[in-house]
Amino acid sequence: MSRRVYIETYGCQMNVADSELMLGLLCREGYARADDPADADVLLVNTCAVRDNAEQRVIGRMGELQRYKRKGGVLGVVGCMAQRLGPALLAQVPRVDLVVGPDGYRNLPELLGLAQAGDRVSDTEFRSWEHYEDVPPVREKAPTAFVTVQRGCDYRCTFCIVPRTRGPERSRKLADVVREISGLVAQDTTEVTLLGQTVNSYHDGEHDFADLLRAAGQVEGLRRLRFTSPYPADFTTRVIEAMARTPAVCEHVHLPVQSGSNAVLKRMLRRYTRERYLEVMRELRQAIPGITFSTDIIVGFPGETEADFEQTLSLVTEADFDDAYTFKYSVREGTPAVRLRDHVSEDVASSRMARLVDAVRGNARRKNIARVGQIHEVLVERPAKRGDLQLARTRTNQLVLLDLPASAIGEYHRVRLTGTTGSTFTGSVLLPALAVL
Ligand code: 5AD
Repeated sequence: MSRRVYIETYGCQMNVADSELMLGLLCREGYARADDPADADVLLVNTCAVRDNAEQRVIGRMGELQRYKRKGGVLGVVGCMAQRLGPALLAQVPRVDLVVGPDGYRNLPELLGLAQAGDRVSDTEFRSWEHYEDVPPVREKAPTAFVTVQRGCDYRCTFCIVPRTRGPERSRKLADVVREISGLVAQDTTEVTLLGQTVNSYHDGEHDFADLLRAAGQVEGLRRLRFTSPYPADFTTRVIEAMARTPAVCEHVHLPVQSGSNAVLKRMLRRYTRERYLEVMRELRQAIPGITFSTDIIVGFPGETEADFEQTLSLVTEADFDDAYTFKYSVREGTPAVRLRDHVSEDVASSRMARLVDAVRGNARRKNIARVGQIHEVLVERPAKRGDLQLARTRTNQLVLLDLPASAIGEYHRVRLTGTTGSTFTGSVLLPALAVL
């Protein structure tokens, strides 16, 4: 019997990497991958639990996907929402046969066997040793790839469900990470993003994140090295120095700040102040000329006053973020913030969100307009949604639309930025166009 598996992925980059891992696990057991749910015997939805709207979207999508479920087929929910809700999901969504959390993927072949025989099964145990080290992920061949270096999280940010969905923090061995990167480079991948919930707190018992950056940066043929997401308070001098001394490390950091108010940061149990955060940025800017920053910001956290919010607004310009992902606080059952008083009303949160988005866009726009005319090295990543243009990225994480054929994907070019929408750029390739610089 040919068994085909379709995986749909929601949420963060680690979920993308986990889906590649699941494909690796299942292909090893004789499954083939299906790109269309209509062609699949097994349908898996890899889910996110970080905000309620992420979960609602998945619930809606399950309703659609169940139409594709064949007789003897399986509809499964995996990932963080599966972990959070556990077997309750089986009761809530009658056509779901399988619920597996991020530490249970190794058991997927066996659980799928049971589900195909008609059982409804779940596995939401934490396994703090689990790295899936022996499982080669199945990836789309691409110039860029994600490499998980750390799973789980030991921080206790009061808004965040992740410690309850991904379990305790653990780091892969440096040598294993380097081996995986070498394998990717051998397949023509030249940019790697190292993934971890607090990736710069990486420690494998012997090596810290600085060691990891240096070792990864030495892999012959790797041209770009990125990582996400770092925790602001964990940028040691060693790490900043390793970034500055490792040519492959790109001049961009995604540095989630969450709030510009010290009172709010404290209630969030973030282990830094606004001042310390800005200091870390200053150190990074000093060590790495031209570095850019993006961030995550939550509005409407319990107890956030107008004055607290104005601190967040003023941080956008003071920190001079190049980009920011903004979120309305979402109550997550099981997190400490549920018990905090003074929950902010939906109206107030919405209006703060709109003001914040304006501030973020305004700052980004001003910075991006000033970039027009600059020359950057870009990596051509994939076709753009629009026309026959290709999407390329600068080391500093700006997206540039280029008039190049699809055969240019994977190439590095020097481009002049010719225009901006305020967020993305158009560019023209400077000749000579060298495929390999
Ligand atoms: N509500 C809103 N946003 C949240 N995030 C995490 N938990 C919540 C929550 N309960 C945001 C944070 C984090 C990003 C991945 O999601 O900003 O950095």
